[in-house]
Amino acid sequence: MPATAEDLKNIPRHIAIIMDGNGRWAKERGLPRTEGHRQGAETVRRVTQACGDLGVEFLTLYAFSAENWKRPKREVDALMKLLEQFLRIKTPEMHEQNIRLQAIGRLHDLPESCQQQLHRSIESLSQNTGLTLILALSYGGREEIIDGVKSLIESVERGHLDKGMIDTEVFSKHLYTRYYPDPDLLIRTSGEMRLSNFLLWQLSYTEFYITDRLWPDFAKEDLEDAVRAFGRRHRRFGAL
Ligand code: FPP
Repeated sequence: MPATAEDLKNIPRHIAIIMDGNGRWAKERGLPRTEGHRQGAETVRRVTQACGDLGVEFLTLYAFSAENWKRPKREVDALMKLLEQFLRIKTPEMHEQNIRLQAIGRLHDLPESCQQQLHRSIESLSQNTGLTLILALSYGGREEIIDGVKSLIESVERGHLDKGMIDTEVFSKHLYTRYYPDPDLLIRTSGEMRLSNFLLWQLSYTEFYITDRLWPDFAKEDLEDAVRAFGRRHRRFGAL
């Protein structure tokens, strides 16, 4: 069903997506896994544009997890190359769409040329005022919390922060996501019911939407279905 004005009343401010199923998509077609990732990158372009059109403010995509380094080197290399290529080729298009780019994760783990391209793209899109696309790269929720704890300890040791002042709000300011609101809606494709170390802290009150659709097949209509389902949820944040 195409989105109607009624559906568009309650657009999530921040959508986070676990993009899963690239490998299965390729396997179903007798293609190499990397072909699934290539199609997956095309979906990234499509969904980013669709989120911008809907008026979503932040879109966080789980593009490469801290655990993904354990995949065969050939697949890791192909993913890094794909990411670099995507950024190089799609940055002008993102600029035309007024998209701003950010990244979270242990970015220094990425190959040097990938880091450079990422920083070039972030810089050249930094003045844009539309959708903020946040790529989670070499990202792990537990690792982020550990990095946050280290950063907190450092602040206390330097005398910038009193231990007694630490609360959830202060801690949030020591996470990679300190500049962004928590996600309102989490989408996971290809049917798996798990978080896979994604945004563990930030998803505390997020609405979940799991679809069987594989990421390369995920279309604008699927995004609209998710947003429509979100619109029907009653969020209480633990209250009545
Ligand atoms: C999960 O599919 C997907 C990934 C591990 C990486 C996501 C990467 C992309 C969508 C392409 C590149 C990204 C950008 C931002 C250009 P899977 O391989 O785990 O699939 P499977 O569970 O079916 O094997």
